Amino acid sequence: MSRNRERVIETVENVFSQSEKIAPEDMMFSYKGVLYPAVLSSPETLEALKSFETRSDDVILAGYPKTGTNWLGEIMRELESTDAKYTEEEMKERINAEKKLETFSRLEFGDPGIYERMKKLPSRRIIVTHLPPPLLPPSILQSKAKILVLVRNPKDTAVSYYHFYNSMPVLPSFSSWDEYFAAFMNGKVTWGSYIHHLVEWNKYIDDERIMMISYEELKEDQILGMKRIAAFFRFNLCEEDFIRIAQMTTFQAMKEKSKETHGKFGDILFRKGVVGNWRDLFSKAQNEEMDQKFEDCLGGTKLAAKMKYDMYCKA
Ligand code: A3P
Repeated sequence: MSRNRERVIETVENVFSQSEKIAPEDMMFSYKGVLYPAVLSSPETLEALKSFETRSDDVILAGYPKTGTNWLGEIMRELESTDAKYTEEEMKERINAEKKLETFSRLEFGDPGIYERMKKLPSRRIIVTHLPPPLLPPSILQSKAKILVLVRNPKDTAVSYYHFYNSMPVLPSFSSWDEYFAAFMNGKVTWGSYIHHLVEWNKYIDDERIMMISYEELKEDQILGMKRIAAFFRFNLCEEDFIRIAQMTTFQAMKEKSKETHGKFGDILFRKGVVGNWRDLFSKAQNEEMDQKFEDCLGGTKLAAKMKYDMYCKA
């Protein structure tokens, strides 16, 4: 087991228990023009985040919400721990350190003191964040640490986030898809505009410390995707390891175990896990609006080619 399940469930229970106490207008706060969920972070935490000290062997995973960060996070934990060959005792110590230090599964979650406590976590730390480059602590982009960037086609990401917003009791619900779609396109959702995230990450596409992978690519051939990731981080795994990790991280396998791994959050998180679900909700006009925005902001870029927009997003 490479994941601190108790800590995840404790966080989920804590977050859900606050939902009855918090009014919809207090569910989000704005920091430097971007919205964040109030039960998970605060302006003070985002201010303190600047002091985060990156280690050169940190394994960093960055992805906008709903791009599949929980899936790839689990894959990363399995790849890392298989390469490290932690003994059962070492694994227990790593899990206990996270529990004792009360760290979170996302870099920008928690109280402002978390970055001091994270200094005491054993290496290699796996750091997951939803933040785009301009909002990351400076040490991440200045250090030698490698960053894996996860992207997903913007239409499925939008649909996934819509359902998430309306299922999460600690986020304000939208009264309709149309109302939500306007907010998504204008970046008026937590973590801001997805297109803006993509534009910012595209600036790093040739950086050798950064690797981009797409949700769709992992769905097409997870083993190939994991081999590329392992080569990038110089993890040494054998064919059987890749097969085992692929089997334990299928959507079905993770969904079936989700009560154990994510408590109540599991039913919300593991929704459909497919490519192309946007076709159920996007109107013709919304399709055109997204296609135009993508073309205006990312048309002709290497990231657009990597994301295969025409294949996954054109009606
Ligand atoms: P859907 O809502 O389209 O089903 P995140 O973890 O960043 O919040 O992303 C959540 C999305 O990843 C959800 O998409 C979820 O179903 C999908 N997902 C989670 N685990 C997955 C897995 N093992 N395989 C494929 N998709 C998965």
